[in-house]
Amino acid sequence: MSSKGCSFHITTCFAATVLLLLLSTFSCEAQLTPNYYDYACPQALSTIRAAVRAAIAKERRMAASLIRLHFHDCFVQGCDASLLLDDAPNIVSEKNAFQSFKSLRGFEVIDSVKSAVEEVCPGVVSCADILAVVARDSSEYVGGPTWTVKLGRRDSTTANKDLARANLPNATNDLDALVSIFARQGLSVKDMVALSGAHTIGLARCVSFRDHIYNDTDIDAGFASTRRWRCPSAGGDCNLAPLDLVTPYSFDNNYYKNLLQEKGLLHSDQVLFNGGATDDIVRVYSANQAAFYADFAAAMVKMGDICPLTGAAGEIRKVCRLVN
Ligand code: HEM
Ligand SMILES: *[C@@H]1O[C@H](CO)[C@@H](O)[C@H](O)[C@H]1NC(C)=O
Ligand SMILES: *[C@@H]1O[C@H](CO)[C@@H](O)[C@H](O)[C@H]1NC(C)=O
Repeated sequence: MSSKGCSFHITTCFAATVLLLLLSTFSCEAQLTPNYYDYACPQALSTIRAAVRAAIAKERRMAASLIRLHFHDCFVQGCDASLLLDDAPNIVSEKNAFQSFKSLRGFEVIDSVKSAVEEVCPGVVSCADILAVVARDSSEYVGGPTWTVKLGRRDSTTANKDLARANLPNATNDLDALVSIFARQGLSVKDMVALSGAHTIGLARCVSFRDHIYNDTDIDAGFASTRRWRCPSAGGDCNLAPLDLVTPYSFDNNYYKNLLQEKGLLHSDQVLFNGGATDDIVRVYSANQAAFYADFAAAMVKMGDICPLTGAAGEIRKVCRLVN
């Protein structure tokens, strides 16, 4: 009798586990396709591309800022544009998580891309898909790789600032922390090293790299002293420096070459080449830009697949900052 009760219990547990696994797989399964808007909005991709090109032509750093938005979106409840929601009675904006606050930029560009798309096809193209396409177009515009973007994501009606704090990496993370933060999103160590190569463009604030240039030992002495010039040990928190000191506005593999010379700007950059398990990947990318491009493109596609809302889930927002 006790064995019967026990086996019943085990069966129930097993069934419940299978159900949970199925549910979690289904709710996170990517069902995206590159031709999603071919009939509903054939002008979608060209409209987005034109608006992105105009924005980057005006300010080249914008390419960096826009690529970063897709990353900060996807790592928090999937690529669902939750990042774009502003504070509202039922929304605690992810924009205010410390990794993003006073740091993310380009939201006005996303607004203008969205209005351009709404003009040609109202209510059809999601903000989450716009972020994915904008990231690809930005990379391409500044000389980086291009790839085919899968589409069909829908927009969330929720945001989660606590999850943003928990899921987004920060500049003081060590290699182990970076590996586990990316693994939580289904991304491999190689994906993590390749995606970090986005730091071949764009700028960081003194507050993000002060610790590294004053206190770390895995940094070139001349480079550290140059960076201290505009980043004093107290004050000047918002002074900017390029993440790639050589070509901050071109997407290339200089980021990895810098790491070989201990000229990574962030602590979290230099840990990728610091006598650890990722040194070899950094060496490969520093010597072979084509390998970096191929792996970066593949990892961006993989990142874009993180838990999209599809089917009847979520909505197509009219304005990216607001739930309909
Ligand atoms: C590996 C973990 C990562 C950490 C710890 C990290 C951290 C940071 C930090 C601290 C900044 C400077 C922010 C500031 O001072 O305002 C930054 C900038 C940037 N990040 Fe990351 N990041 C990571 C991965 C990524 C990934 C995966 C991407 C995109 C695929 C990315 C794209 C960028 C870009 C392009 C910038 C420059 C933005 C601009 O100039 O506006 N980062 N990141
Ligand atoms: C950054 O992440 C580390 C974990 O690796 C954590 O200990 C630290 O508190 C975080 N930084 C901030 C400012 O919260
Ligand atoms: C360097 O480390 C010391 C001791 O951990 C700390 O008190 C100080 O604030 C750090 N300096 C900077 C500029 O981060």
